Amino acid sequence: MLHETRVIPPSAEFAARANLSREDYERLYRRSLDEPDQFWTEVAGELAWMKPWEQVLDWQEPHARWFVGGQTNVAYNALDRNVARGLGDRRAIVWEGEDGEVRTFTYAELLREVKKAANALEALGVQAGDRVTLYLPLIPEAAIAMLACARIGATHSVVFGGFSVSALADRIRDAESRLLITADAGYRRGALVNLKANADEAAALAPCLENILVVCRANCDAPMQPGRDVWWHDAVGAAGEEHEAAALDSEHPLFVLYTSGSTGKPKGIVHTTGGYMVGTYLTTQSVFDLKPGDVYWCTADVGWVTGHSYSVYGPLLNGATVLMYEGAPNQPDWGRYWDLVQKHGVTILYTAPTAIRSFMRQGDELPARYDLSSLRLLGSVGEPINPEAWMWYWRVIGGERCPVVDTWWQTETGSIMLTTLPGAFAAKPGSAGLPMFGVDVAIMTRDGQELGPDEGGLLVVKRPWPSMLRTVYGDDARYRKTYWGEIPHVYFAGDGARRDADGYVTVVGRVDDVLNVSGHRLGTMEIESALVSHPSVAEAAVVGKPDAVKGEGVVAFVLPQLGQSVDPAALRAHVSREIGALARPDAIIVADALPKTRSGKIMRRFLRQIAAGQEVQGDTSTLEDPSVLVRLAATPAV
Ligand code: WTA
Repeated sequence: MLHETRVIPPSAEFAARANLSREDYERLYRRSLDEPDQFWTEVAGELAWMKPWEQVLDWQEPHARWFVGGQTNVAYNALDRNVARGLGDRRAIVWEGEDGEVRTFTYAELLREVKKAANALEALGVQAGDRVTLYLPLIPEAAIAMLACARIGATHSVVFGGFSVSALADRIRDAESRLLITADAGYRRGALVNLKANADEAAALAPCLENILVVCRANCDAPMQPGRDVWWHDAVGAAGEEHEAAALDSEHPLFVLYTSGSTGKPKGIVHTTGGYMVGTYLTTQSVFDLKPGDVYWCTADVGWVTGHSYSVYGPLLNGATVLMYEGAPNQPDWGRYWDLVQKHGVTILYTAPTAIRSFMRQGDELPARYDLSSLRLLGSVGEPINPEAWMWYWRVIGGERCPVVDTWWQTETGSIMLTTLPGAFAAKPGSAGLPMFGVDVAIMTRDGQELGPDEGGLLVVKRPWPSMLRTVYGDDARYRKTYWGEIPHVYFAGDGARRDADGYVTVVGRVDDVLNVSGHRLGTMEIESALVSHPSVAEAAVVGKPDAVKGEGVVAFVLPQLGQSVDPAALRAHVSREIGALARPDAIIVADALPKTRSGKIMRRFLRQIAAGQEVQGDTSTLEDPSVLVRLAATPAV
């Protein structure tokens, strides 16, 4: 393991104006652990509650309830509250389509749209506690629909627009959604993606769906099924402008978001109202050093948790101006992000290492053609950032002027858990850094022994925090087992990490069978079951291999059915159809056998070595037939 030694302090100018100094952090962090009730009471008290809570935390391991007995509403806090404190005319969302169209909503305008959408949802019979699935491009209506659900207490489940029909249908069925909100189509790299056609196919597989609400993003010529399908512009257009936000219990489920685990189907991660609101509010404010006048851009799609917490809820709760961009980073060319920064005067940019590495490959000249001087802070999320990409981001995009905050967190954690606060601490490229307020982390062995400085182990959290997941939708046993059952009495994140003598945590990557491809989580089992569902495949084993841009690439070892041959193009298309294009194997190795132990367990460790082009190392004597490895290593990938 390479140990990075560079240390990059914030500029004196940034530090002087920062919201939080090192002393502030140290005082507040101590207080958040020593006097958690007082700490969280103060933070939550900055937001509006329809009924105050009676107890800050009720912890019955592994179930936490935060702000017990309190009632509030996240959409009310993001919109009504901000309008009431005089921010009605401030821009809430500035949206740019891939085709260059720009739409802007002030806080007052966004509130009006959300109220109308809330009325439209209620008119369709959606009630508090119902689930609503969203399958949308990154358009303002995505945020409006999320906020409208939050306003009436419907639990949203956003499914990334790049997911396939069967992935969408599985998620609708698992959540038992009665309403699907989609669009006729979305733009991606200049082409139209027909979301409504996918929605129709998925609806046929999901009998729980009663209605489909369709936003017109492209040409409005999608076929509409009478009695089931309703145009957004008709329903929302006709809806009244008055709507009172529902007073919801602090533990009312705000959303479900599906994410891959090491076994079985993706899990529906459940987040609730009060704790998630407080967690995203506090972290957005402190990590991004938000100030009035900032133009804040998180490039994540709302289909991922980053889009939930840091494109929508966190920044809007803070009254920030959020930039949203619909399209691809290389449309029409790799200068598009820099054009957006220049055009909209972006001050805070939050993106993923995979994007940074793609830009890096295009060289320094392209960003140099744009005026990036509005930027003052940069952020990174989704996977470990390699120090070279960190340095490039800091030097070429940030002009050696903007601190870079590397932020470690997960769908399950709801909000940022580790980072180096931008004005308070020097960054160590490649290391996420220090725990956020209330976050009590440790590095442990599998059997729960705490490790010391620089010892590699498993990253755990030792006590509950407000924005943590509450359960896995419909499968609490899986919640208990996966998160609080691996190592007794701590939350197990699934990541390997080490902590240095200064307390900085470096997250190395997943220790389970979860791949991180371009910052997106994929379960190897999910891809394997997609592969074996193809008639030509008898057996499959999927592993990751290091990839210079994507972080990890997908490598599939497949065993053909007797008498069949495997067509790599057909197999890739099949995986796209089953899961989505992001799961498509980069390399397929057609095998005559897989390395198995005598008890039939596939030894993925060896496959990972072969996939990476390394010499096979380790004890192969437990294999039923070690010669399989020699043949696999000699087989070219297709
Ligand atoms: C990885 C995304 C290192 C990690 C917010 C985690 C990171 C998984 C970082 C969660 C980071 C995310 N440094 N690794 N800064 N950020 N990860 O649920 O493996 O899509 O467990 O949430 O991404 O991915 P998820």
